[in-house]
This record gives sequence, C-alpha cells and structure tokens, in this order.
Amino acid sequence: MAGITIIGSGKHLPGAPVTNAALSRVMETTDEWVKKRTGIEQRHFADEGEGASDLAVGAAQKALESAELRADELDYIIFCTMTPDHSFPGSGGLLGAKLGIPGVPALDIRQQCCAMPFALQVANGLVVSGAAKTILIVGAEAHAGFMPWKDWDVLYGNSDRAVDPADFDRGTRHRGLAILFGDGAGALIVRASGDATRGFIGAELHSDGRDAKQIYIEGGGFRRRPYWSPQMFEREEHIPSMGGRELFKTAVTRLPEVVRSLTKKHGVALTEIDWFIAHQANDRINVAVTEALGVDPARVPSNIARYGNTSAGTIPILMDEMFRDGRLKRGQLLCFLALGSGLHWGAALMRL
Ligand code: UT7
Repeated sequence: MAGITIIGSGKHLPGAPVTNAALSRVMETTDEWVKKRTGIEQRHFADEGEGASDLAVGAAQKALESAELRADELDYIIFCTMTPDHSFPGSGGLLGAKLGIPGVPALDIRQQCCAMPFALQVANGLVVSGAAKTILIVGAEAHAGFMPWKDWDVLYGNSDRAVDPADFDRGTRHRGLAILFGDGAGALIVRASGDATRGFIGAELHSDGRDAKQIYIEGGGFRRRPYWSPQMFEREEHIPSMGGRELFKTAVTRLPEVVRSLTKKHGVALTEIDWFIAHQANDRINVAVTEALGVDPARVPSNIARYGNTSAGTIPILMDEMFRDGRLKRGQLLCFLALGSGLHWGAALMRL
C-alpha cells in the first residue's frame, strides 16, 4: 500500500501580532537585537482562557475545507503540543469534541518542536497498517501561559502605566526564551497517496533524554508532592528553562547529520529535494543548517519573521502558506527536519 501524502492544510493565529518593540515594554530588549539574532519580527499570543485545542479548531476547519472533506470523514486525530489545555487529558479528544466528531480516536504526542517528523511517521504507520484512512495531524501551541510577564495590558499598548521593576527584571531574566516563542496552530490532513510513486518515504528519528534539561519545565511534574506548589512559582519553575547557546549548537550539529543519514539510506541526493521544510526555531539555526548541507537557501523556506517559534505548529503553518501560495506542488520531494525539547530530533522524506 502506498504511504501517506498531504491532501489538506490550514492554519490559525490568535489575536493581533505583537512586535519586538512591544516586548521591550515588559523586558529589556530591542527590535534590532531580536531581528538580528533570530529573524523574528512579531508573534501572536493566545488569549486568556484560549487553549491549544481552541487554536487547533480554526486550523483543522480550514484544512478540512481545503481537502474538501467533512469532519466526520476523519478517522484519527494526532494532536501535537507541548502546551496542552490541561495536564491531563491531552488536547486531541477535546479537539475531536469541538469538531463534532466524538468517538474518533485521538492521540496526543509529546515531541515538542520535533512533533511533525514523529507525527508523519506515526500517521503513515496507521494508514499503511489499515488502522486509519484519513488522519488529521495538528500542531497547536498556547505558550502565552508560560511567558514571564503579567502586564499583558502594557504589552498590548492598552495601558502606559509603569511596569513593576521586579516584573520587568523577571521578563529580562527569561528574555532569551520569551522573545522566541509565539502561539498558533497548523493542521495537515493525510491519506494514502494511492500511487506507488508518491507518498511517505521514510523517517529517521532520535530521542535522547540525557539532554532533556537543554529546554524543559522544572515545575508541575508528578514526581513532586503536590505536583504544583506556591514555591515552584516563587522559584519561577513554571517558566521553561532553556540553555539557548547549547541548544543552538546541538541543533546545528544534529540536524545536518540526520538529514545526510536519512537521504543516504534512501538513495536520495540533496539536490533532488525540492523543499527542506525545517522547524522554525531561530532563523540563524536554519541558515547554519543550510550552509552545513551546502543546499540552495531558496529551498529552505522561512516564515519565522511573522510568527516566531510556534513549536509543534511551525511546520504545518509553513506548509499551509506554501500550499496556498502555490510553492508546494504534487510530485515534489520534501525533506522535513526538526529538533526540540526531549531532546527529540529527526527528519522525514515525502513525495507530495
Ligand atoms: O525549538 C527549540 C527551542 N529553542 C531553540 O532552538 C533556541 C536556540 N537558541 C537560540 O535561538 C539563541 O541561543 C537565543 C536566541 C536564545 C539567544 O541568542 P544568542 O545569540 O545565543 O545570545 P546569547 O544568549 O549568547 O546572548 C548574547 C548577548 C548577551 O549579552 P552579553 O553577555 O554578550 O553582554 C545577552 O545578555 O545578548 C544578550 N541578550 C539579549 N539582548 C537583548 C540575550 N537575549 C537578549 C534579548 N534582547 N532578548
């Protein structure tokens, strides 16, 4: 049986964009620094009370429209997020209920920024084994809840009151993280290509928990009694801890390695690949990976300027834009690549 290909896509970004200049109201940073070091110009944030499953609804509905399918034609949901609506249950079942398809199996996978290569491999396995036919893969994130400021009114320019210096300092202490992430959702609908010349080719995936602390959240884990305590907030353990430089080096080393290894295994030359669909963590990471692979930068698309790092959302959001503006076409060879908290990293090949 032929592997999966993508038959529909959608994206949803909440609220109005928040510029780098707006961030400088709640922390010490500048538009110039953020643009130069990351390529990011703006990002979106979910509203208070708006969760990953809510953001996913908008993206999923647009993906269904583009695939010309009704929600009840989906027979599996793979929900990718590192910022679920609740500690449990996962957000996949909530999304199914919101789409009006209760009873459809929904799997939450926790590969953070590396979700898409894993999700594509899982979806392909489900389809090829006959367990599912039409799968909705969603990457959705509401990072707003872990942002290190509380002055959302000042951030949005709705108030010009002074920010408490202690709050401003907290923002500045966590600025490496805070300037990177934005919220949003992307959705892909996949099905067997029905054609032996097209579809999922293969993936090479890796996980290494020894490096989990390069980016992780210390607070709120079930190894503690209780799993949340006021002291955790005092110690700022609800805010992810990120070794930015270390993570950067890991990404620019492991991503070219895994792309070379996967393409070699499948006898694919890098020059045959139409698009390298890379996770959008920091534009400088993708520039370094492009240089290390020696590929044409025009084949490594970027949209991080507008959305920042939407973790599991970046790849489906980028693909939706490329489908809609005509860059992605049937028959093209795609190489997906991503690295994220876990650490998990990997690459996948698909003939669209
Ligand atoms: O999806 C996976 C998740 N995360 C990643 O992949 C993150 C990978 N790492 C990165 O993207 C980068 O390491 C960061 C964007 C987080 C940081 O950039 P960097 O070029 O590694 O900066 P740095 O942490 O080495 O800091 C350089 C300087 C420091 O000042 P001094 O010590 O040289 O005087 C920082 O204090 O830049 C300063 N700095 C800032 N200045 C203004 C750090 N963050 C900021 C900021 N605004 N937001």
